[in-house]
Amino acid sequence: MKIHHLINISHYFLLSLCLLGIRLATSTAVKAKSACIEEERNALLSFKQDLTDPSGRLSSWVGHDCCRWEGISCNNRTGHVSQMDVAYNNLFGNIPTSVGLLTSLEILKLNNNNFGGKIPDSLHNCSILKSIDLGDNKLSGSIPPWIGGSNVSMLYMLRLRSNFFTGHIPRQLCNLGYLHILDLNHNNFSGTIPKCFNNLTSLIRNVTIYPNYNNEPTTLTLKGQELVYNTTLMLVKSIDLSSNFLEGEIPKEIGSLILLGTLNLSRNQLTGKIPSEVGNMHGLETLDLSNNRLSGQIPETLASLTFLAHLNLAYNNLVGRIPSGNQLQTFTDPSIYMGNPSLCGVPLPRKCSQDDTFTATNAKPSNEDGSDKLCSISAWYLALPWAFGAFVAHYLKFCHV
Ligand SMILES: *[C@@H]1O[C@H](CO)[C@@H](O)[C@H](O)[C@H]1NC(C)=O
Ligand SMILES: *[C@@H]1O[C@H](CO)[C@@H](O)[C@H](O)[C@H]1NC(C)=O
Ligand SMILES: *[C@@H]1O[C@H](CO)[C@@H](O)[C@H](O)[C@H]1NC(C)=O
Ligand SMILES: *[C@@H]1O[C@H](CO)[C@@H](O)[C@H](O)[C@H]1NC(C)=O
Ligand SMILES: *[C@@H]1O[C@H](CO)[C@@H](O)[C@H](O)[C@H]1NC(C)=O
Ligand SMILES: *[C@@H]1O[C@H](CO)[C@@H](O)[C@H](O)[C@H]1NC(C)=O
Ligand SMILES: *[C@@H]1O[C@H](CO)[C@@H](O)[C@H](O)[C@H]1NC(C)=O
Ligand SMILES: *[C@@H]1O[C@H](CO)[C@@H](O)[C@H](O)[C@H]1NC(C)=O
Repeated sequence: MKIHHLINISHYFLLSLCLLGIRLATSTAVKAKSACIEEERNALLSFKQDLTDPSGRLSSWVGHDCCRWEGISCNNRTGHVSQMDVAYNNLFGNIPTSVGLLTSLEILKLNNNNFGGKIPDSLHNCSILKSIDLGDNKLSGSIPPWIGGSNVSMLYMLRLRSNFFTGHIPRQLCNLGYLHILDLNHNNFSGTIPKCFNNLTSLIRNVTIYPNYNNEPTTLTLKGQELVYNTTLMLVKSIDLSSNFLEGEIPKEIGSLILLGTLNLSRNQLTGKIPSEVGNMHGLETLDLSNNRLSGQIPETLASLTFLAHLNLAYNNLVGRIPSGNQLQTFTDPSIYMGNPSLCGVPLPRKCSQDDTFTATNAKPSNEDGSDKLCSISAWYLALPWAFGAFVAHYLKFCHV
């Protein structure tokens, strides 16, 4: 009897222990999952309140567990908000400064909305930001100097394309040792391309990428096409400064970026020669320098870029014979050289003259100094008997004899 009782009691005791154990286990599990931190929840609510959301895209931002709200992810271990992805949502207004209260933010995607105003300085607070995508909005102002400063120094991606940003490309960007995607396409940036780009370490040597690399889907123009990169984002190495008002020469230092896959400098106002150091960029698959004011000859070194698959040098003032050999021989489409009236040779229909040391920087027959230059060139042709007939016609026509 007594023994039976004892067994019953111990059963009950064990059962209670088990139940308690289960309750403890579930409560810790729930705690780990719903780790939303109250201040960050308030910051997100204030973020939502300070913008206009006509389509109600942030309607899931209610309740306690902000880590389950659409577009929000929290760090498993710390419970801090680590990602905010509210891209493609038709959101209006300035970017609410409350985003700076999310001090553990790593990924910020506000792209493809209607945000206006400037990049909020409160983001300076977010010292472990790895990726900022503000592309396709109506943002203006300049790139703040704290991007690349002591706090915001871990970025692997800065994507500001298709906004109204102005000002120079700040030198501070060169401190971003992890940066491998810089997309400033289609803004109003002016000034020169920083020489210090040769300090972008992850485009120079294989740097160990930090753990938990997020491969958030990102649209980039890489091979003449807009493509969405998901799992392969970490392998993309691209600088796209196209469609701005950049001027001055392409710094020869850019030749140090031997891992860079895409360099798009098209649609700017760049002058001077294509630096021969471009031939050192052995990782280049895409090189677009079209629609600038580049002059001089195309460097022979381009022929050594064995991965080059997309090249565009159209609409510049390049002169002389198109180099041939290796990879360059595979570019048979003449349109990549068009709009350079003084280029000659395959694949252009325009044949080079026998002696092609012709390197006049601007041989366009524009009225004033252009016709003078043409006349002196014609005078040089005079020495060549084979050109004499052509010369006479030419001379009579242009030099008003
Ligand atoms: C977070 O937790 C989930 C599920 O437990 C796991 O699959 C994932 O790898 C974790 N992520 C990180 C970054 O630790
Ligand atoms: C930076 O973060 C701290 C801590 O969350 C906060 O008190 C402060 O107001 C933030 N500063 C800005 C400019 O957002
Ligand atoms: C840098 O980040 C830390 C941590 O978020 C923050 O406390 C500090 O105020 C930030 N510095 C500036 C100048 O914003
Ligand atoms: C950008 O440049 C265009 C063309 O020069 C100009 O019309 C526009 O006003 C500029 N926008 C800003 C924000 O500076
Ligand atoms: C190069 O980057 C390092 C950090 O990666 C920085 O300390 C240094 O000032 C940078 N140099 C230039 C010239 O930008
Ligand atoms: C970087 O790593 C890749 C793949 O591991 C290798 O093929 C390449 O040679 C490395 N490049 C440099 C510059 O170390
Ligand atoms: C370079 O950028 C321009 C837009 O600014 C784009 O039209 C072009 O396709 C890009 N070139 C390549 C080769 O991706
Ligand atoms: C990226 O993901 C989307 C949808 O998940 C898919 O349609 C697309 O093909 C992927 N892109 C690449 C380059 O893998």
